Amino acid sequence: MLDPLVRNFAFSYAPGKIILVGEHAVLYGAKAIAMPLDQGIRVAVSQKGLKDSGGPLIKGVGPFFMGETFLNRQKKGPKVLELALEYLTRVFKAYNENVAIIIDGSLPPGCGLGSSAALSVALIRATYRFMGESLGDETLHEHVLALETIFHGRPSGIDHTVVIDGRTIAYRLFGEKAQANPIAIARELSLVVVISGPHNGTKNAVQSLSERMRRQNSAYRRIFTDLDHIASEMEQALITGQLSSVGELMNIAQGYLNALSLSTEHIEKLCVIAREHGALGAKLTGAGGGGAVIALCEGHEQAVLNAYRSMGYQSFIATVPKEPIVSTLIDTKTPVS
Ligand code: PMV
Repeated sequence: MLDPLVRNFAFSYAPGKIILVGEHAVLYGAKAIAMPLDQGIRVAVSQKGLKDSGGPLIKGVGPFFMGETFLNRQKKGPKVLELALEYLTRVFKAYNENVAIIIDGSLPPGCGLGSSAALSVALIRATYRFMGESLGDETLHEHVLALETIFHGRPSGIDHTVVIDGRTIAYRLFGEKAQANPIAIARELSLVVVISGPHNGTKNAVQSLSERMRRQNSAYRRIFTDLDHIASEMEQALITGQLSSVGELMNIAQGYLNALSLSTEHIEKLCVIAREHGALGAKLTGAGGGGAVIALCEGHEQAVLNAYRSMGYQSFIATVPKEPIVSTLIDTKTPVS
């Protein structure tokens, strides 16, 4: 028998993501490849009543997410949640003093693993469900783009597109328009993800790169063209299941990211450790300057994980599934027990 309160919950889930190749370059017209992860964010929107708090509240209970932080009008929480709550309150009349949001997840925030996109997607889906309204793809994209723009300034859209699609995509911008083509990967990818440390935010990373690029425009353009070719080669290797090629191309892409000053000493060290312990390839993912490193492990997961953990790094095994992650099957009006 469910608690009566539980019946007023609307639930949603969205996966995190990695960028396998093309971060930053995508903003300058290069092809990028993004993949969903089997780690994500769950959101529940409900009538207030579980806890006594003055206003909409957000509680994080995930292993990485927000600890026991409560966000309401008195207490400040993480910036992304604060901004998201402001948006929801402004845009949706349903958000009032009686609404509570509960967030849970297994994605470390602010590391380039799509936590803000997953949060945005799950929040909007749960909100519509809570209001009892249907949500079309176009409206979902509009809300999530608005949220991502608040968080990141000028997003390419790759993060939330892969999070909404739930499958591997090749993504390219044509001016204001974007093209996302699904890639049928031959095999699932088994990764070790390690957090190199905090980074300075996607917005700042994108801004600093554009300043460096003003000084070395043609050199940067050549690198973006090369990364574009690497993305096409990787796409073929993913389709044919040649994972050793995927790994080698990841290593080459990492070299270019270093050349673009997006890597750090820690990131380089973590890539070397992964390769030394049997990984097929390793690179940073997302904005860089810190954040997550991904290592394609294929059988060497435990060795790589142990090496990272013995050095005190937060790391975990994650999978890119072969089949799309269909969030509608995971989303539910009632909790999954
Ligand atoms: O927010 P992150 O760390 O996943 O980075 C997104 C990738 C960038 O290319 C750096 C920015 C963008 O909007 O594409």
